[in-house]
Amino acid sequence: MFRVNENFAKLPGSYLFATIAKKVAEYKEAHPESEIIRLGIGDVTQPIAPAIIEAMHKAVDEMGRAETFRGYAPEQGYDFLREVIAKNDFQARGCDISADEIFVSDGAKCDSGNIQELFSADSVIAVCDPVYPVYVDSNVMAGRSGQYNAESGRFDRIVYMPCREENGFLPELPKERADIIYLCFPNNPTGEAIGKEELQKWVDYANEHGSVIIYDAAYEAYISEDGIPHSIYECEGAKTCAIELRSFSKKAGFTGVRLGFSVIPKELKCGDASLNAMWFRRQGSKYNGTPYIVQRAGEAVYSPEGSRQVSEQIARYMKNAGTILNGLKGLGYTAYGGVNSPYIWLKTPAGMKSWDFFDFLLDKANVVGTPGAGFGPSGEGYFRLTAFGTYENSLKALDRIARI
Ligand code: MLT
Repeated sequence: MFRVNENFAKLPGSYLFATIAKKVAEYKEAHPESEIIRLGIGDVTQPIAPAIIEAMHKAVDEMGRAETFRGYAPEQGYDFLREVIAKNDFQARGCDISADEIFVSDGAKCDSGNIQELFSADSVIAVCDPVYPVYVDSNVMAGRSGQYNAESGRFDRIVYMPCREENGFLPELPKERADIIYLCFPNNPTGEAIGKEELQKWVDYANEHGSVIIYDAAYEAYISEDGIPHSIYECEGAKTCAIELRSFSKKAGFTGVRLGFSVIPKELKCGDASLNAMWFRRQGSKYNGTPYIVQRAGEAVYSPEGSRQVSEQIARYMKNAGTILNGLKGLGYTAYGGVNSPYIWLKTPAGMKSWDFFDFLLDKANVVGTPGAGFGPSGEGYFRLTAFGTYENSLKALDRIARI
């Protein structure tokens, strides 16, 4: 008889956003007349920018002609895309990252779940708490955790670094062994960002302790303040200790198009083992390349027109973020984020549990958000709203919240 990967049995419940979608579908079925405003999952609502659509049309036409048809894409991504990424996202910010350190993929969710394959099964991972659930789930599936403790909401053998109001939502350096440290800034879910000096401490720590930082910069395009690093490679020494993950989902509205990339510097080594060479090997075996049409779409994000259009989209979402953040504060809520990120992290009123607040808000205001506890035990008592809705719906949601 075959045996299954028993690590899956350690995972409690279903994936956070699947649970929410199910609850909302049930509510909608019971209340078909309700007009639900969805500010839960961070899914974009604005259409793909015209310059990007034009590039995709052109690429589609190329695929229909024998002279320009393309088959399998290179497993690391086309040069034309990796080169514009290296130039615009890194070299323009003074980061010495070259095209051969960039691996194009079908999105940062897959990369953040897959990247753990590079590390030994007995590695200890450290995560912020609250945390984007993929980092934890993927390591649990791979056997890097002990059992789940329902009372504490934590897995044994995983180091949790609480990020709460008291520490400005910034984790403290771990006191125990942490081989792989996941950091996400601007942070999902708290919406708070990290300053360059503070991030430098993590890079120094990792280099000193022989740890690797998996730096998820999916929300980098939303940074509005000076002094906030867009890339971990703005910190000295990051190339010997950090992998960076990037996404086009939030930057250019590609949640349904699927495009992201990982940066694995050539200097990042464990003895003789190069993580860049290992990931190249891994992608060769397991990935057949991101579609040509999608990579041409990605390239267009960096064209003068494309980049102007995506900046305008981001500005519209950030107008929602400011409206929600200030609106909630005006209603007496304590709320964070929303300045360098599209997420607003509010404290639930009267110490309500976050899932209770989810039900309350859904029922009384027909507004969907994400319960903080779904991101980890330190998220209890908090709630996340996204700025990815329309402006009209952001205002309407606030108005309904004001009435409850
Ligand atoms: C979120 O809502 O946290 C994100 O949309 C999830 C994701 O990007 O996979």
